[in-house]
Amino acid sequence: MKSRVTLSWPDRPEQFAPASGERLAKGSPIRRLSATGGSELLFGDNLAAMRLLAREQGETFALAYLDPPFLTGRVHEAIDRKGGAKGAARERREAFDDRWKDRAEYLEALGSRLVGVRELLAPHGSVVVHVDPKTSHYVKVMCDEIFGEECFASEIVWRYRRWPSKTPNFQRVHDVLLRYRKDATSPPRWNQLYEPLAASTLATWGTKKQRAVIGTDGRRERSSTLSVASDGTPMGDVWDIGVIAPVSRERTGYPSQKPEALLDRVVRALTQPGDRVLDPYAGSGTTLVVAARLGRRFVGIDRSDVALETIESRLAQAGVTLTGGDEREESPRIGAGRCIGEGRR
Ligand SMILES: C[S@@+](CC[C@H](N)C(=O)[O-])C[C@H]1O[C@@H](n2cnc3c(N)ncnc32)[C@H](O)[C@@H]1O
Repeated sequence: MKSRVTLSWPDRPEQFAPASGERLAKGSPIRRLSATGGSELLFGDNLAAMRLLAREQGETFALAYLDPPFLTGRVHEAIDRKGGAKGAARERREAFDDRWKDRAEYLEALGSRLVGVRELLAPHGSVVVHVDPKTSHYVKVMCDEIFGEECFASEIVWRYRRWPSKTPNFQRVHDVLLRYRKDATSPPRWNQLYEPLAASTLATWGTKKQRAVIGTDGRRERSSTLSVASDGTPMGDVWDIGVIAPVSRERTGYPSQKPEALLDRVVRALTQPGDRVLDPYAGSGTTLVVAARLGRRFVGIDRSDVALETIESRLAQAGVTLTGGDEREESPRIGAGRCIGEGRR
């Protein structure tokens, strides 16, 4: 029998309990807003909200994208983009709190949410977890445990350019996106994306498609050029996408907002039109706006007032209106084991 390698810390429950056995964040009220085309925004704690979704909707999501706080140890503020009077300081408001007792508390909270996400994914679905190099290795081991090593699909490096900082180290210019499949035995949702051919390939082969010619011994002998234009190179796992420029129209002022170009790639590759996309850490609503634009149905969850306001206005600009605001009190359910992520608070 193979030895199982897992993360451990004092008081860690032996297993990441299934969400159904977890105690929900105490009586978290969930406000629900409906959007055109069967999309939704849930305002409240994402663990409680996902329990609600699991009971009502089951395993229906083709994609869950998670961009949780990065364990920065600080409160993140949103900056009012409209500004006040000329010369006056721009208003800042607390958007979300990323302070934790320790790394263990952070991982327990995220682990319980990942278990909740897994329960909502369709067999052909994927989860993409966006983390930074300070936590990615911990989260990857945790995901191996929750989803199974055989479900690991990709570690995508998002490489961005930003203003260099004066530091006696290599500049930190990447984040990590971990992709896991729900079920390694089901064919995954997958649309092949392409990137432009490298200059060296263009110089040698031009823009036409190449076909490998294989000899009788099974070895590649040469390539033959076809008459059709090449689609490009199948997309690799290192993505060069710029951060949102300070003056960009896309910028909302919400902290840690991710570029639409990044989510566009994730959503296009892993879903089809009409599919359901979940973002339990919706923030400024980047995933939701991109999903709507691409004809996918979204469910966004966030517990920050500022996030809710930002999402509402961003969706309105994209022609998506939210209605309702039905408040449902999620009752805490005490399950067998201690709830991961709630017991230490
Ligand atoms: C890094 S931001 C997400 C940014 C987003 N991807 C974007 O492009 O704007 C993380 C978000 O998760 C939310 N969040 C953190 N913990 C949560 C929880 N337990 N339930 C619901 N939302 C939570 C925060 O309020 C914050 O808006």
